[in-house]
Amino acid sequence: MDIARDPTVTADDTQIADAAPMPQHPQEIRREDYHPPEWLVPQVALDFALDLDATRVVTRLTVQRNPEGGGDKAIRLNGDGIAALAVTVDGNATNDWQMDGPDLLITLPGEAHEIVVETQINPAANSQLMGLYASNGMLCTQCEAEGFRRIAFFPDRPDVLSTYSVRMTGDKARFPVLLSNGNCTDSGDNADGTHWAEWHDPWPKPSYLFALVAGDLAADRDTFTTMSGREVQLAIWVRAPKGGGGDLDRTGHAMRSLKKSMKWDEEVFGREYDLDLFNIVAVSDFNMGAMENKGLNVFNTRYVLADPETATDGDYDAVEGVIAHEYFHNWSGNRVTCRDWFQLSLKEGLTVLRDQLFSQDMGSESVKRIEDVRILRSAQFPEDSGPLAHPIRPDSYREISNFYTSTVYNKGAEVIRMMRTMAGPEAFRKGTDLYFDRHDGEAATCEDFVKAMEDGAGLDLSRFRLWYSQAGTPRVEARLKHAGNEAVLHLKQTVPATPGQPEKQPMPIPLRLALFDRESGGHRGEQLIVLDKASDSFRFGGFATPPVLSLNRGFSAPVAIERQVAEDELVFLAAHDDDPFARYEAMQSLTVQYLTAAGGEAGATGSGAGREAIGTALEAILADSALDDLMRGELMMLPGETYLAEQLLVADPGAIHAAREGLKGWLGARLEQRLVALHERASAVPYGLDAAARGARKLKTQALVLLAAGVPEVAARLAAEQYRAADNMTDRQGALMVLAGLETPARAELLADFKARYEGNALVTDKWFSLQAGSLHPQALDHVRELAGHSDFTLANPNRVRSLYMAFAANPQAFHAASGEGYRMIADLILALDPINAQTAARFVPPLGRWRRIEPARSALMRAELERIAAAPNLSRDTAEQVGRSLG
Ligand code: TRP
Ligand code: ZN
Repeated sequence: MDIARDPTVTADDTQIADAAPMPQHPQEIRREDYHPPEWLVPQVALDFALDLDATRVVTRLTVQRNPEGGGDKAIRLNGDGIAALAVTVDGNATNDWQMDGPDLLITLPGEAHEIVVETQINPAANSQLMGLYASNGMLCTQCEAEGFRRIAFFPDRPDVLSTYSVRMTGDKARFPVLLSNGNCTDSGDNADGTHWAEWHDPWPKPSYLFALVAGDLAADRDTFTTMSGREVQLAIWVRAPKGGGGDLDRTGHAMRSLKKSMKWDEEVFGREYDLDLFNIVAVSDFNMGAMENKGLNVFNTRYVLADPETATDGDYDAVEGVIAHEYFHNWSGNRVTCRDWFQLSLKEGLTVLRDQLFSQDMGSESVKRIEDVRILRSAQFPEDSGPLAHPIRPDSYREISNFYTSTVYNKGAEVIRMMRTMAGPEAFRKGTDLYFDRHDGEAATCEDFVKAMEDGAGLDLSRFRLWYSQAGTPRVEARLKHAGNEAVLHLKQTVPATPGQPEKQPMPIPLRLALFDRESGGHRGEQLIVLDKASDSFRFGGFATPPVLSLNRGFSAPVAIERQVAEDELVFLAAHDDDPFARYEAMQSLTVQYLTAAGGEAGATGSGAGREAIGTALEAILADSALDDLMRGELMMLPGETYLAEQLLVADPGAIHAAREGLKGWLGARLEQRLVALHERASAVPYGLDAAARGARKLKTQALVLLAAGVPEVAARLAAEQYRAADNMTDRQGALMVLAGLETPARAELLADFKARYEGNALVTDKWFSLQAGSLHPQALDHVRELAGHSDFTLANPNRVRSLYMAFAANPQAFHAASGEGYRMIADLILALDPINAQTAARFVPPLGRWRRIEPARSALMRAELERIAAAPNLSRDTAEQVGRSLG
């Protein structure tokens, strides 16, 4: 008898696909193969009998033949590790169905039918955290991208939109709170100690936006009145253990962020919320940051919980940004969703841009821009120049989870930001208005967005569309010539070859620029030029003497500018540029030029004069009383090692590390007096969330970072003082970060103090792991090996795994240990984690995938580890795809 039809099938047997070996060559899905769905599902009714290890699900689908389909007699209902316990069509049990691998195919004679399928799942055994799973005794779901098929058989693709009615029944003591999308329409108690609730979501949605949460939760409640005067009930749900110690006292910042987001989206994008209820649930076991399920956002606890004692200023910003991001998805993602997963950047690029603009408006616009560019350069640029490079709208994939990338998210946001730069904010708003209006309720494509921008904002984007199809970071060579009264800017662009894309076309590149007069220190106004050919020249008259060029101001295009600039010009811009980003950029370029002058050769750097120039510029920045401390803190940060490595064709990570640390040490020693004085000045500022107090905290830690490299005894003393005096996590973590990299008795003592002080707080325990795994300590690698055996370490929790191993993989000195031990450690982790949580395991492949750009000895070691992973049996589709592409 077919196991799928056997009603006696046990709960564990229903998770068959998790245990079954994956096919050796999982199929590639291609964008060009898109076909509209054969069947539409206007209505779904789900009935859950909740239980931690045996949840029964009855799915009732109202299906209709799609007039745009090909007339297929069978409906394909995707499944993943689930079995059909019973199937009826129009009320009658039927045998007209079969399994096709994980999917259920049902033959349907007519145009419209009602299908009922029953399944059973085991949430407690679901370690992948996709579908319905258990976390801390509660039940919750994660369906994007293809998790719904682990719960119920369904055409699990984003272009099938349905209205959902959900009924759930569960033990009232274990699951006192029962939540789903939309509004709660009814609820009640049963005589047997169970209770039930019914939810209805009036907005048609794809299955990836379905959510259900059941557990012992408490709510922080508030209300928001929308622009049209409707009152929305807001609730943030967190753990509420009976004996106390719950998280309710750490939701205030998230709630304030939510209300600000709702207001801002009305004011800036004209978008109003559309349900009477908005729920957020914080979950401690979560694969990503958060999820925008309609009316029921599910969040990683780290993006909800914050108070001064346990969260840094960075954490506060991250909570605000992610709360905004998920809320903004209600329009850019939910009301207008994606036709297929190749269009992912349609919702993610746009929503990242929206959350970036929001955060710019909430805090320091320039500091936010600098931070976003730093993320792009350290995460996306390496992706774009490596074996996993893909366009923001990919052409093919095997496992879509692998395409939730910095390219789709962050470069996707940059591409839309360029449209905004070219159109200006008002015309851009006309474009987004038209987009939302035209495609409301639809599953749209990136092309639909571009068209709406052309029609609404009045742009001609015909060539600009190349940004959607071409991977790789464009390089722009710039030369400024001066003759007579004229300055001439010669620009030449090349888009590098990437896997599968050997040949590239030139793309329109919008560049904001200004030409400074050296004497007066001013310029005659900023201009926007668009380089839309392979090369072009731009003439600027009226310059009796050669001006100083400030190019790609505000980082108006996500490109790499290649230009040899005289040190004195960079020093000038670092001191005088009125565009804060350009000022930061001048400081970065000065350092990049110096540190990569010798092509990254062991220990070699630029000239003594180059180093002097950096010292002089930094000294001026430290002394500039017109600068606020948040910005000063940015200007004090040296370019990261990944970004430095990006500048070189083949990098020696050891040499880059030594050169960068050498420069830090020289600066720290040379500027010791000033840095100590700044630290003292900033230490007198009392805790607050205002920009001045936050700036003071940033300054303190940045000062310690430089001092630690130059005068470690001084830094160790100041850091220990800062730690002991701290009344907030920013100061405490900053001090401990510096101490963790030093050989000083305070190191062990204060790490232990930190651990004990926050015993039982998972998010702070994550910090304790990260501080050690990411430290500059020469034995960091050994520390990581020991920490992996710590009783608080577990592979079952993604936050904990990342806190140890992502911090380690991002620690160049430790990860790139010449012995190859770091590579082996990450490969071992991938192999151990893959059967438990494939999505998270696959995210550790990219650091090893950099092998082609690393010096030969390390390169061979990295490659060997990738080959060892590739040879392992039963690799997940996620990991197999990433390793396969990395080996290329
Ligand atoms: N859509 C989510 C966001 O960016 C991303 C996300 C959350 C996700 N959980 C996921 C993607 C799980 C893939 C798998 O806001
Ligand atoms: Zn998103």
